[in-house]
Amino acid sequence: MRGPLWVKDDSANPTHSFKDRVVSVALTAARGLGFSRFACASTGNLANSVAAHAARAGVPSIVFIPGDLETGKVITTAVYDRDLVAIEGSYDDVNRLCSELVETDEFEDTAFVNVNVRPYYAEGSKTLGYEVAEQLGWRLPEQVVIPMASGELLTKIDKAFTELVEIGLVEAPANGWRVFGAQSAGCNPIAVALHQGAEEIVPVKPTGIAKSLNIGDPAAGLYALEAVRRTGGWMDYADDDEIRDGIRQLARTTGVFAETAGGVTVAVLRKLVESGKLDPDAETVVFNTGEGLKTLDAVADLVGPTYRIKPSLRGAREAGLLH
Ligand SMILES: Cc1ncc(COP(=O)(O)O)c(C=O)c1O
Repeated sequence: MRGPLWVKDDSANPTHSFKDRVVSVALTAARGLGFSRFACASTGNLANSVAAHAARAGVPSIVFIPGDLETGKVITTAVYDRDLVAIEGSYDDVNRLCSELVETDEFEDTAFVNVNVRPYYAEGSKTLGYEVAEQLGWRLPEQVVIPMASGELLTKIDKAFTELVEIGLVEAPANGWRVFGAQSAGCNPIAVALHQGAEEIVPVKPTGIAKSLNIGDPAAGLYALEAVRRTGGWMDYADDDEIRDGIRQLARTTGVFAETAGGVTVAVLRKLVESGKLDPDAETVVFNTGEGLKTLDAVADLVGPTYRIKPSLRGAREAGLLH
């Protein structure tokens, strides 16, 4: 990259992912609408955030997750001591079950943030776009690279930029902004549809280490496709080794330790530059949406102490730290 490259680091929110934005909007609305219990279907980060918000608000919650989530994501939900249901199945199974539960009498008073109050949850993603404009001094970048699971975040960052221009708070860049989407090779249905020029998204069974992005049947996938096509952007996907490299590259070049979703985004940024799809001279914002401490296993085998020594000068000398 030759042009300015910014990392919008959204991993330092109260539960360490961008999901705190969407949950605070959705659950504020849910309380106003009279719901008395909070819930969600989650790939991990949403579960953390719903349980924490429920604890803070003193409201019961019940969150549903796939049974094979990373320990870091399970503990950081369970610690809030609200109901946590691990399902023997994929996120798409979890989501389908939640869509059925929401119709039952027992769940009538329950706001599922990404099911029956989803419009509020979706609009909450726009704040990430607003904040980028604000932090750039009320300007928009020329290119943004965004991780995709359901595709909602990408769609809503584009919507945020559109709204800011419409109300006259910012001017669009001379050639508009271009939206780029990032998925993993283990779960790439939106990117594949773009590559194939398709008008429909064929669901996949997700695999791979980027579990927070493992939504095989993405609810906002078609909208994400539309935004990327309309703005002249592109999408790509990265395999597990590339994701691990992406995490390490971001860490050693910026000091930001990302979870696997951030690794996906950085790895895809690199591919987009190499393939010429992304202009290396244009101002670009890449989004880190989650904290590396939640997915330690992704890099645990690749990093460790540089030296292991006895606690003595001799030990330091023997290791070559002293001459
Ligand atoms: C860390 C992280 N980044 C990005 C996303 C993608 O969000 P969306 O479903 O809005 O595409 C998720 C979804 O769970 C996530 O956990």
